[in-house]
Amino acid sequence: MNKNEAHRLEQLVLSHLSEKNVRNKISQHSNPYRELMAYYRCAMMEIETKFRVLNEELSIQYDRNPIESIKTRLKSPESILDKLVRKGLPVTVAGIEENINDIAGVRVICAFPSDIYMLADALLKQDDVRLIEKKDYIGKPKANGYRSLHLIVETPIFLHDSKRMMRVEVQLRTISMDWWASTEHKIRYKKDLSFSDSIDSDLAECARIAAELDARMEAIHRVTHSDD
Ligand code: GTP
Ligand code: MG
Repeated sequence: MNKNEAHRLEQLVLSHLSEKNVRNKISQHSNPYRELMAYYRCAMMEIETKFRVLNEELSIQYDRNPIESIKTRLKSPESILDKLVRKGLPVTVAGIEENINDIAGVRVICAFPSDIYMLADALLKQDDVRLIEKKDYIGKPKANGYRSLHLIVETPIFLHDSKRMMRVEVQLRTISMDWWASTEHKIRYKKDLSFSDSIDSDLAECARIAAELDARMEAIHRVTHSDD
């Protein structure tokens, strides 16, 4: 999609989403779509902070940081519109909140596969985090080789006069899983084509090698830090 098309789509989604609230918007200076996106940004901050706190605490216990980096992203208006249309869902603010679980995304990159499960467990144990859905593409990688642990969680954000439950998609990966997924995405996106069987199996083979490297590095780490 080029820049102009993206801009047109953004205008389209914004006009669609605020259609019912045009009067409100004028009288109250509020836009329900922008408001909802602000709530998702808050929820992303809450989840990111939870991981930063865990990293801080665990770094004392293990003498190393289990988290390499954290990335957050808010789904763009054009991706939201695209998903609503693709799934035949209502193009409304309520339609977004009720049906799309990955508006707010938090990606946590770890050194070792075992860190992923340790962090996921630590997050899910917290009493203000509710698990909605878990997809373990590490235990069971996708056919193309994609690996990551996906969680959809619900967590409260505290506003000046209310509390609101928000959903966040958390993706936990090792550095090598992230490297594969980012590179595969770039290759696919740039070419925007369905690949030949040989490219598909080449990519799957790269994912398999990356998984093997993860396992070997984890084994080395275990041997060298057996007294931790
Ligand atoms: P959608 O969110 O509608 O796509 O479906 P879903 O919720 O069933 O998707 P899933 O949880 O399987 O994956 C969601 C996200 O994981 C995507 O938006 C990507 O960020 C990532 N992902 C999943 N599969 C792949 C893949 O094959 N390659 C790459 N690079 N990323 C993937
Ligand atoms: Mg998704």
